Amino acid sequence: MRRLVWAAAAAALVLAGPAAAQSPIVIKFSHVVAADTPKGKAAEKFKELAEKYTAGKVKVEVYPNSTLYKDKEELEALQLGAVQMLAPSNSKFGPIGIREFEVFDLPYILPDLATLRKVTDGPLGARLLKLLDSKGMTGLAYWDNGFKEMSANRKLVAPSDYKGLKFRIQSSKVLEAQFRTLGAIPQVMAFSDVYQALQTGVVDGQENTWSNMYTQKMHEVQKYATVTTHGYIGYVVVVNKKFWDGLPADVREACAKAMKEATDYGNNQSAKENDDALEEIKKSGKTEIVTLSAEQNEAMRKAMMPVYKDVASRVGQPLIDEFLKETG
Ligand code: LMR
Repeated sequence: MRRLVWAAAAAALVLAGPAAAQSPIVIKFSHVVAADTPKGKAAEKFKELAEKYTAGKVKVEVYPNSTLYKDKEELEALQLGAVQMLAPSNSKFGPIGIREFEVFDLPYILPDLATLRKVTDGPLGARLLKLLDSKGMTGLAYWDNGFKEMSANRKLVAPSDYKGLKFRIQSSKVLEAQFRTLGAIPQVMAFSDVYQALQTGVVDGQENTWSNMYTQKMHEVQKYATVTTHGYIGYVVVVNKKFWDGLPADVREACAKAMKEATDYGNNQSAKENDDALEEIKKSGKTEIVTLSAEQNEAMRKAMMPVYKDVASRVGQPLIDEFLKETG
């Protein structure tokens, strides 16, 4: 009997040894947008490079389109270690107790992507990433989507056009304040639910980038989209901290290199992807694209400025000031 147990144990060792050495470390990367978007493409690039640079020691499984988790759940899943990597938008960290990323949601705070890069690549960007440590996450990179535009079933030209309309928002108090300032009714909703909410009239409108609108077919259920370019959607790539710190050093370094290159790749083409998506939306003829005159733009900007004061105590006035200084 004893001999049998030993034999079984030895056999198990033989099996476990080489098999364990060969089985790759799996990184589950969950996200909520389509594969054919700036985030979806950057995630695929990271997969390709991480698997290449680690010579197969790492396997990256990308789950797009909320197939694994929706917005709120994905952050919980990351903290619990059910997935290893995510790229939620800056607007989605408030519910887990990090409000500072909402500074990116302030209306008209970023004139262009080059200015954004000054913040994310500088000391402020690095300091913000460090905040994630206390939540069991390591911030690895900033990925772009692009600038947000408005859509609704009512033609949105003047600030007064927003009055009384229900708008879907991401889970950010800054975005809530933005729509309240316009007299609209903001409603927090997971990204995966937006199309249906627009289609059934649960909400009247929403704000997003052209690539997100197009790949979710929002333009098919919205009569108008207005080129407001009033806000920004970007992502913080986060990894479960325990998992990341526990990786063999050579694997972690190879993954960091893959992340750096995937970031450059994604950020270099995000603007074009949004331009292309706008062209496709125009071509579809399903929604009217409204452009604003300089005066109308200025009226929108002015109408949204009270948001800065409204959220100062939440986001932190010193942080807003520092951000403005770096972008000014
Ligand atoms: C949204 O919820 O509208 C966006 O944050 C989705 C995304 O990840 O781009």
